[in-house]
Amino acid sequence: MQFIDLAAQQARIRSGIEARIQAVLNHGRYIMGPEVEELEARLCAFAGARHCVACSSGTDALLMPLMAWGVGPADAVFVPAFTFFATSEAPALLGAVPVFVDVDPVSFAMRPAHLERAIEALQKRDASIYPLPKAALERSLTPRAAICADLFGQAARYEAILPIARRHGLMVLEDAAQSFGASRRGRKTCALGCHAAGTSFFPAKPLGCYGDGGAVFTDDGALAETLRSIRMHGKGRDKYDNVRLGLNGRLDTLQAAILLAKMEIFSDEIEARQQVAAWYVEHLSDVAGVAAPLVEPDCTSVFAQYCVLLPEGRREAVAAHLKQKGIPTNIYYPKPQHCLAVFAGLGYAPEQMPAALDASRRILALPFHPYMDRAATRQVAEALKEALS
Ligand SMILES: Cc1ncc(COP(=O)(O)O)c(C=O)c1O
Repeated sequence: MQFIDLAAQQARIRSGIEARIQAVLNHGRYIMGPEVEELEARLCAFAGARHCVACSSGTDALLMPLMAWGVGPADAVFVPAFTFFATSEAPALLGAVPVFVDVDPVSFAMRPAHLERAIEALQKRDASIYPLPKAALERSLTPRAAICADLFGQAARYEAILPIARRHGLMVLEDAAQSFGASRRGRKTCALGCHAAGTSFFPAKPLGCYGDGGAVFTDDGALAETLRSIRMHGKGRDKYDNVRLGLNGRLDTLQAAILLAKMEIFSDEIEARQQVAAWYVEHLSDVAGVAAPLVEPDCTSVFAQYCVLLPEGRREAVAAHLKQKGIPTNIYYPKPQHCLAVFAGLGYAPEQMPAALDASRRILALPFHPYMDRAATRQVAEALKEALS
């Protein structure tokens, strides 16, 4: 069994991909060729956002808006304690201090009420209100931004996050690396009202290219202009008129071409993902001890990963049993952010973010992709049942 079956997808659209690649080979504009703009327009229309700036990765899609906002060492940036490292790495790269906020134990998204408490704690420099990094007690930091990760494919609760951010003057960056194509209350991710959103086109993502890629979305035209400048070494009127520090942050034309071919089937694949998830729910409902992912009412998930929670202490044996049955699994993520060695200097204790810690100990990702059939989901559920019985 495959964990993610990119070969099945390729077999379906191979001729379309080859035609797109051929077109790039013919015109030869490998950097910022016409496919990049075509893709940006297509992604804007799909998501319902005003501006899209394609870029080199999901990580740069987070870094670039933070750079545009001038986030730096005097700033605190609130990030979820349970996410992929890039969410907290991006502000830390700019010298800002990540302030961890615990997550919802079911959706794994940043908890809005905890965000509010963390902001208050930071403003009062009082860690009895909410756990704070050492740096926030030693010096005064400005609460500048919150980055919320739409973990595993479902959007965070922006309708609750945005009013809090507005009250405290924070920018909100949606980390939609795992959620492109999902929706919340009738709107698609990357167009949920945040100041900016970044997504990833890493090959295993719901919309993936054949290398690294990403995109930033925003409704703010001035920000989009700045992002276009940052993407190309801080260019001004032309690329040798550098007006700010930037990056080599462009998306390759070839990757844009591949994404355009994949856009042809993306909506169909999102539907297939819903079907696979429904089969899993049906088969897992009868496996005691396994909590299947829950999608909130009026929301859809694209299930970038299909992660279940197992009883404490059983994960390693369950994964070993599944492996023996030819079923691959993965752990996203074995360590919460506040426990990573790179952040040891922030001085957090593991128990300070209990939901993140618990998730890191009990979570297991099962095989999931749009080309999976019902029998495969049943096979996984049966193997889980045996392992837990
Ligand atoms: C939540 C999250 N944020 C950011 C990223 C970074 O994306 P990329 O690998 O394209 O840099 C990822 C990629 O795995 C992710 O899962």
